[in-house]
Amino acid sequence: MKIPLLDLKAQYATIREEVMQAISEVLESQVCILGPKIEELEEKVAALSDCKFAVGMSSGTDALLASLMALNIGAGDEVITTPFTFFATAGCISRVGALPIFVDIDAQTFNINPARIEAAVTPKTKAILPVHLFGQMCDMDPIMEIAGHHGIPVIEDAAQAISATYKGRKAGSIGAIGCFSFFPSKNLGGAGDGGMCVTNDPALHERLVLMRSHGSKPKYYHRFLGGNFRLDPLQAAVLLVKLPHLDAWSAARRRNASLYDRAFAGTGVVTPYISPDCVSIFNQYSIRVPNRDALRKALTDAEVGTEIYYPVPMHQQECFAGKHRIAGSLSESEKAADEVLALPIYPELSEEQIHYVAHAVKEAVAHPQPA
Ligand SMILES: Cc1ncc(COP(=O)(O)O)c(C=O)c1O
Repeated sequence: MKIPLLDLKAQYATIREEVMQAISEVLESQVCILGPKIEELEEKVAALSDCKFAVGMSSGTDALLASLMALNIGAGDEVITTPFTFFATAGCISRVGALPIFVDIDAQTFNINPARIEAAVTPKTKAILPVHLFGQMCDMDPIMEIAGHHGIPVIEDAAQAISATYKGRKAGSIGAIGCFSFFPSKNLGGAGDGGMCVTNDPALHERLVLMRSHGSKPKYYHRFLGGNFRLDPLQAAVLLVKLPHLDAWSAARRRNASLYDRAFAGTGVVTPYISPDCVSIFNQYSIRVPNRDALRKALTDAEVGTEIYYPVPMHQQECFAGKHRIAGSLSESEKAADEVLALPIYPELSEEQIHYVAHAVKEAVAHPQPA
């Protein structure tokens, strides 16, 4: 049995006609920049996220970049974040000229450890940027308390966590701004790049809208330095078809996760820990094993797709050499980078496929071979 990490064709097969129809509508209308599809998606994602406003962006990366720009963060400023994330989180901090300050993660959730944040705050700290990794939200109460105490905004990197909850509150609705990605591998993925910011703050909403169109209002009068961060209406059309399925797809991922959890009980495979405060959308299902590379090879041989999210923490990336600060030890992030392995978790997997993957993992762990 061949099981890829993600099978987008399986999902597309279930919505093909609607997607073609929606794309055709945009092409027939020839409204190819902004317009009604973008507005409809913004309204629906804002509602889904319990936020007043949403602003479509060209990618999750640009959603983060526009958020930092909207908050006037730049040279000489510091932004506290996690080193165990996709590059874009820290990359955007650097791109606006600010310094990423890396704080270690919690060993169980892989998310930033709130107990380490306070010690990282300095007079230069202009934002905290927690990342809701793999679909589970960070422990937001202590993060918001520290931010509130110091009067600094929180930007939620919710690229992997659309519609996840923490104590019943939606991803993106707790900080000043929440950022989503519609990269095709996300729970809500487009047919290309896309992203969105959500906020409850009318002033920030206005700034985000300006930021995505070169900071201009009216047209050709540029109040701020912005960019072309606009979401494409063709992407919005595809996303509008997919949006009504999001909850069911995320529930199917949770069902798959619980099947794996059961299969791995008592085997020494460390399964994802989900806090009782959280409902995860399981964008990824990352297990931990000490001999990760050997396991990955065995799974490749068994034709099971896997991925390492993420093999090199941000403080060890070449491009950040001399351009970051670490606040305390980052040993948990480094250990996680050595041990994590994401297994197929996509909604269309059958129980038989899950059992095949679980069996292959258990065999490899019980009879380890060199990597
Ligand atoms: C945690 C995180 N932040 C930011 C991004 C950037 O999103 P995009 O790929 O849409 O630019 C991603 C997605 O890839 C992500 O996983």
